[in-house]
Amino acid sequence: MKFFSLLVALAATVQATFWMEDIQHSGISPFNSDKSYTVFRNVKAHGAKGDGVTDDTDAINEAISSGNRCGGNGCVGSTLTPAVVYFPPGTYLVSRPIISYYYTQIIGDPNDMPVIKGSAEFPWSNGMLDADPYVDATGSLTFKSTNVFFRQIRNIVFDTRDISGTVNAVHWPSAQATSIQNCVFLLSTRDEDMHTGIFMEEGSGGVMNDLVFYGGRYGAQFGNQQYTMRNLTFNGCKTAIQQIWNWGWTYKSLSINNCEIGINMTSDVGSVVLLDSQFFNVSKALVTGRSCGKTNTTGKGSLMVENVQYTNVPTVLESMGGKAFLLGDPSGTVYDWGYARGNLYAPHGPELFEGRDPSYFNQPHTLKLGNTYYERSKPQYESYPASAFLSARQYKAAGDGVIDDTAALNSLFLAVSKNSSKIAFLDAGFYKVTDTVNIPPNTRIVGEGLAAVIMGTGPKFSDAKNPYPVVKIGQPGETGQIEMSDIIVSTQGATAGAILIEYNLNTPTTENQCREAHPPSGLWDVHIRIGGFAGSGLQVAQCLTTPTQANYVNPACIAAYMSVHVTKSASNLYVENSWLWVADHDIEDWNNTQISVFAGRGLLVEGSRIWLVGTAVEHHTLYQYQLVNASDIWMGQIQTETPYYQPNPPAPAPFTQQDVARWDPDFAFDCKATIDHGAITKGNLTLQGNPPCEMAWGLRILSSQNVVIFGAGLYSFFHNYNTSCSTLESGENCQSRIFWVGPSLENTQTATNGTTIQRDGLSSVNVYNLNTVGSVSMITRQGADMAFWHENVATFASTLAVFRF
Ligand SMILES: *[C@@H]1O[C@H](CO)[C@@H](O)[C@H](O)[C@H]1NC(C)=O
Ligand SMILES: *[C@@H]1O[C@H](CO)[C@@H](O)[C@H](O)[C@H]1NC(C)=O
Ligand SMILES: *[C@@H]1O[C@H](CO)[C@@H](O)[C@H](O)[C@H]1NC(C)=O
Ligand SMILES: *[C@@H]1O[C@H](CO)[C@@H](O)[C@H](O)[C@H]1NC(C)=O
Ligand SMILES: *[C@@H]1O[C@H](CO)[C@@H](O)[C@H](O)[C@H]1NC(C)=O
Ligand SMILES: *[C@@H]1O[C@H](CO)[C@@H](O)[C@H](O)[C@H]1NC(C)=O
Ligand SMILES: *[C@@H]1O[C@H](CO)[C@@H](O)[C@H](O)[C@H]1NC(C)=O
Ligand SMILES: *[C@@H]1O[C@H](CO)[C@@H](O)[C@H](O)[C@H]1NC(C)=O
Ligand SMILES: *[C@@H]1O[C@H](CO)[C@@H](O)[C@H](O)[C@H]1NC(C)=O
Ligand SMILES: *[C@@H]1O[C@H](CO)[C@@H](O)[C@H](O)[C@H]1NC(C)=O
Repeated sequence: MKFFSLLVALAATVQATFWMEDIQHSGISPFNSDKSYTVFRNVKAHGAKGDGVTDDTDAINEAISSGNRCGGNGCVGSTLTPAVVYFPPGTYLVSRPIISYYYTQIIGDPNDMPVIKGSAEFPWSNGMLDADPYVDATGSLTFKSTNVFFRQIRNIVFDTRDISGTVNAVHWPSAQATSIQNCVFLLSTRDEDMHTGIFMEEGSGGVMNDLVFYGGRYGAQFGNQQYTMRNLTFNGCKTAIQQIWNWGWTYKSLSINNCEIGINMTSDVGSVVLLDSQFFNVSKALVTGRSCGKTNTTGKGSLMVENVQYTNVPTVLESMGGKAFLLGDPSGTVYDWGYARGNLYAPHGPELFEGRDPSYFNQPHTLKLGNTYYERSKPQYESYPASAFLSARQYKAAGDGVIDDTAALNSLFLAVSKNSSKIAFLDAGFYKVTDTVNIPPNTRIVGEGLAAVIMGTGPKFSDAKNPYPVVKIGQPGETGQIEMSDIIVSTQGATAGAILIEYNLNTPTTENQCREAHPPSGLWDVHIRIGGFAGSGLQVAQCLTTPTQANYVNPACIAAYMSVHVTKSASNLYVENSWLWVADHDIEDWNNTQISVFAGRGLLVEGSRIWLVGTAVEHHTLYQYQLVNASDIWMGQIQTETPYYQPNPPAPAPFTQQDVARWDPDFAFDCKATIDHGAITKGNLTLQGNPPCEMAWGLRILSSQNVVIFGAGLYSFFHNYNTSCSTLESGENCQSRIFWVGPSLENTQTATNGTTIQRDGLSSVNVYNLNTVGSVSMITRQGADMAFWHENVATFASTLAVFRF
């Protein structure tokens, strides 16, 4: 006993400070005119005591707001004032809300998580930590929820238990490139209180993972277009998750214990996927607003459940009107391999489906670890000392957006790849590069504050006839493992030949795969940002929209050839929370003014064993996601948007030269058979005119095997910057098609008698919960339209539950 406590004491004394606190802080914001602007802020350096007694509210708010940052002053967005607000261990007492600003990362020490504790004097509040305060009584937000990008919260305990009445620990309206990771919520269990851990009423997110909630009227209240959430644990909440509204949602690895209600999705809910989860002692696991039986002909309330265990759960699923639809076992365990309800296309439909049928879920085991799909959180390197990090500044990279840092970054990454105990640290800054940055196998890289930007510019990246990578991860044929997190890759100026990331690495894993000893490579919070930010040369001044000029393209605003290419030599790659964004508006502009920036292709995947967890690809000209000859692909809540300028000009303009080697679509071929729109009416809805087909694909799958998609939102809101085509009343009329599955070019063969034979080249493609906006056809298979929006009317989006063949 004595020996043991000695060990514990010893461990406590040698517990090192988290490297992020100790490391030299050299992060800058080079395009900010204030040259003394500081990215890193330790709340204790701003006067917070963290002693559990002193009121730290003002000190924390000062740490967040100092430096004339974007927030509270009419600013609606800015990349000029990024900040890491760091909390050392301690208990930080607050008596009023902590107000977070734009582009803020709130990070605690993961080895000894700091506690933010509301005092008994805390008033009614929308958020103890309010990331987007209301500016008026009608609930208008400071930052438009769908434009809240580049924010994180990590390693914090939120304790609201001393607060009586109504409070949300965190108010988090949020969009792409945001996350909450590794936090704990301690909430009141008193009947008279109304505590919620996370309150999110709208946005277009996003990822959350590794969260634990205790108590509360609600563990969390979630409303958003779409989200991917995994590894959330709820203990003793009245309702674990109140799903306020959604179009599509992917939950994985939930553990809900001793709660009255698991997920209440009775309100305006489009679809939910629930995977690899367990409920223990919950009165009602899932409560839906959909009526039971095969009577409900809308797509609304689609639900897909795979691999879920219910122990001591009397009601597994309650339907509209309080009818228990699936009973559990109040004193034993029910195991659900596969349950689906909604509209099924297998591959023809719609067939109204409701019931347990594991045969709809026979996915590749190559993507699993044991019984569950593989998952891995962003590494924080919490056991490494600051001395393990080699920083970009140490390697003489300026990060000032002016000096050419190509050679400095290449030498940094080479050095790190040669020493398995080193990690590269990219201090916040803009690393201008004029040639390829190579990331060799066995390199680990972490950026500061989501504000470390590798920015390609110059003639090497400017020739659309000779596409050229800005960042190249592994050479074709190379093997090894890499980890990269919190990095943005961008371009500056006219760079029509830039491939922002080319990924070639083959990461070997043992045959029954994914053992901890041989994990896949990982990219977490590695984002592509093309235009729309200070320093890009692709802002309002250069790239203002031109909706009244026919087919006009400013060549100075053609800014990328392709965002990311995962080549056929790549395998075993885990990607989480990655947003490939071609700017539709200028973030620095306080009116959110729209711009037209052109980038050819989004994400091309030709490799195998790829997990795309919580990813989004937006506004590329030809397609957002394309899989070609790919195999064993997991995609969970993917999200896309068609460029707002299309069809002015129509696709593929301005990328009119078809790149056959990189499998560019041929719009003349893909649009050959047109849809007879005139025939489509639904109630009082009638389609007007012919929507264009020469529009970007949201998703294109050619000649691929074992593809599982757990939630997809493919959206087309605009017709030449006019949104009136995406309403139900207009007949979802922005584009005729958005999702193509079909043969690759190599599968089109000419028979000896001269006719063309098309082989499908596809096997086992499974799509669960497909949500589309603005497209007449939801799925086009080899030119045949398989599913239409009007068969699957749900929320603002149309929703179908299963497509497979
Ligand atoms: C899930 O979250 C918990 C709590 O943050 C963490 O300890 C655990 O390692 C996470 N599990 C996975 C698979 O990441
Ligand atoms: C089961 O959960 C309820 C809350 O829904 C709780 O009151 C009860 O104590 C739990 N039972 C056990 C045995 O933990
Ligand atoms: C589910 O939430 C709705 C509010 O949207 C509420 O009216 C209803 O009572 C809740 N159902 C249960 C079983 O708690
Ligand atoms: C179908 O379900 C939706 C909610 O998912 C509900 O609003 C609607 O009333 C239901 N329709 C019928 C006919 O039960
Ligand atoms: C790798 O770095 C460690 C310290 O972090 C050092 O002790 C070791 O000598 C280095 N190895 C090589 C091969 O440079
Ligand atoms: C926003 O628009 C108004 C009115 O058009 C204009 O006066 C103002 O300068 C704009 N502000 C910014 C920051 O662009
Ligand atoms: C498709 O992939 C298979 C193996 O997975 C390979 O043999 C074949 O060459 C690939 N085809 C093309 C055109 O890349
Ligand atoms: C169409 O009918 C729905 C109810 O079925 C109604 O809410 C909507 O306003 C109608 N739209 C038009 C354009 O009449
Ligand atoms: C948008 O399109 C609709 C329908 O074609 C049209 O009535 C409306 O005037 C357009 N709006 C603008 C701002 O051009
Ligand atoms: C041509 O050959 C293909 C493949 O063998 C066959 O399917 C097709 O019917 C033939 N067409 C004619 C006109 O004979």
